[in-house]
Amino acid sequence: MKEIVIGFLGCGNIGCGVYRLLETHGQEMAANEGVSFAVRRILVRDPKKKRGWEIPSVLLTDRAEEVLEDPQISIVMEFMGGEEPAASYIIRALRAGKSVVTANKMALATHWDEIIAAARESGAGLYYEASVCGAIPIIRAMTDSLQANRITSLMGIINGTTNYILSRMSREGADYSEVLGDAQRLGLAEPDPTADVEGYDAAYKLSILSSLAFHRHVPVEKIYREGITGVTALDVACGREFGLTLKLLAVAKEENGSIQARVHPTFVPDSHPLASVSDAFNAVFVNGHACGEMMFYGRGAGDLPTASALVSDLVKAAKADHHSLPAVSSQSVFMAEDWECVHFVRMLAKDEPGVLRDVAGRFADEGVSIASMVQKGKRDEGGYVQLIFLTHRASEKHVRRALERMDGSLAREICVIRVENE
Ligand SMILES: NC(=O)c1ccc[n+]([C@@H]2O[C@H](COP(=O)([O-])OP(=O)(O)OC[C@H]3O[C@@H](n4cnc5c(N)ncnc54)[C@H](OP(=O)(O)O)[C@@H]3O)[C@@H](O)[C@H]2O)c1
Repeated sequence: MKEIVIGFLGCGNIGCGVYRLLETHGQEMAANEGVSFAVRRILVRDPKKKRGWEIPSVLLTDRAEEVLEDPQISIVMEFMGGEEPAASYIIRALRAGKSVVTANKMALATHWDEIIAAARESGAGLYYEASVCGAIPIIRAMTDSLQANRITSLMGIINGTTNYILSRMSREGADYSEVLGDAQRLGLAEPDPTADVEGYDAAYKLSILSSLAFHRHVPVEKIYREGITGVTALDVACGREFGLTLKLLAVAKEENGSIQARVHPTFVPDSHPLASVSDAFNAVFVNGHACGEMMFYGRGAGDLPTASALVSDLVKAAKADHHSLPAVSSQSVFMAEDWECVHFVRMLAKDEPGVLRDVAGRFADEGVSIASMVQKGKRDEGGYVQLIFLTHRASEKHVRRALERMDGSLAREICVIRVENE
C-alpha cells in the first residue's frame, strides 16, 4: 500500500471536512484505491481555536514553512481561502515540487498564469475540482470527459447563496433584504455578503470554467459582472407571469471566434432545466458539438460535499505518474463587447397619449423589436404606470442605447434583465 504524506493549508469548514472524510472513509478508500494518506502538518491562524472536528493539536502550526518546506510532504491541500497569502503559498508549494489540491477559486482565478507556470516548471500537479461547484465533477468533465467536444456554450448556477435568495424570493414573493437577512442567520450568507451577491464569486468560477471550456484563458477582469442587489420582488413576480424564473447565471459562449463571459441576473423559461435548480444547489448546463446538451447538478458548497471533490483530487494526484496541466492557451483572448439575447425591460412610463408610441419608437430606432408588452397595475400619483416589455433577440448595446434615450418625461426607474432561452 502506497502511503502519501500530506499537509493542509487551513482547517476551517472545509479543512475539517477533509480531515473528517479521511478519518472516517480513509480505510475503505485505501482498500479501493491502493493508496492511504497521513496528515503531517496543518497551517492555521490560531492553533488554539476550537475546531468543527477533533484535530490532534500536535498537527497544528501557525508557521507556513512547516508545511511548505517539509520534504516529507508531497501533496499540499489548500483551503485557507482568499487571494493572499494563499496564492503565494500555492506557488511556493508547486515550485518546491509538491502537488497542490485547492478549493480556492479566488486565488486560482486571480493568479492563473503564475500558478500554471509554477506547476509547469516543476512538473508538480495542480488539482482544483472543488474550486467550482463543490461536489459536482464539472472540472473533471471539462478536462477529461468532454475532450472530444468543441464546447459552444455553458450556463451555470454556480453560487448557492444567491440561488437560495432568488429561490425564496420567487417562492414567497419576499424582498431581497428580508431573505438576505435569513440567509445570514442560517449561515448560508457571509456577514459581508458582497462576494456572493455582487457576483464576484461566480465570476472567479466562470473564469476557470470558461478557460477550460474554450481552451483560452478568460481573465476574471474581462467578465461582465452584475449582482442581485438591485433585483426586486416585483421583477421576480413579473417574470413569473411571462413563464420565466430568475437566476444569477454565469454564461459563457463562443460565437464567431470571440468569447462572451458574463454573470448577471437572468430569466430562464420555467421549462428550462436550470429553472428547477433551487435553493443552495448548483448546476451547469453545457452544450458541446458532439455531446449535445447536458446538465451537471448537485451540492455546490458545504464541508463534506466540497471535501468529496478535494479527496477525489487527492487520490488522483497521489496515483498520477504524470500530472496534466489544463489545455488552456495563454494567448490573449478576444472577448465580445456586445451580445444578443432577449431582454426583459420594466419601466414606469408616463401614462399619457403618445408615450407608448414614443417608447416603442426609441426601441425601433435602435433596431430593437418588441415581442410583447403588458401594463401592470394602475397609474401612480405622479401619473406613471408599470410597463413590461419582452424584446426579440437584440443586441445589448442597442437596448442600452434605446433606454438611454428615454428621459424622465417618458419613463423612469428602468430595469433590464436578460433572458436566456436557448
Ligand atoms: N465553505 C464552502 O462551502 C466552500 C465550498 C467550496 C469552496 N470553498 C473554498 O474553500 C476555502 C476555505 O473555505 P472555508 O469555508 O473552509 O473557510 P474558513 O472556515 O474561513 O477556513 C479558513 C482556514 O484557513 C486558515 N487561515 C486563513 N488565513 C490564514 C492565514 N493567513 N494563515 C494561516 N491560516 C489561515 C484559518 O485558520 P483559523 O481556523 O485559525 O482561523 C482557517 O482554518 C475557500 O477558498 C473557499 O472559497 C468553500
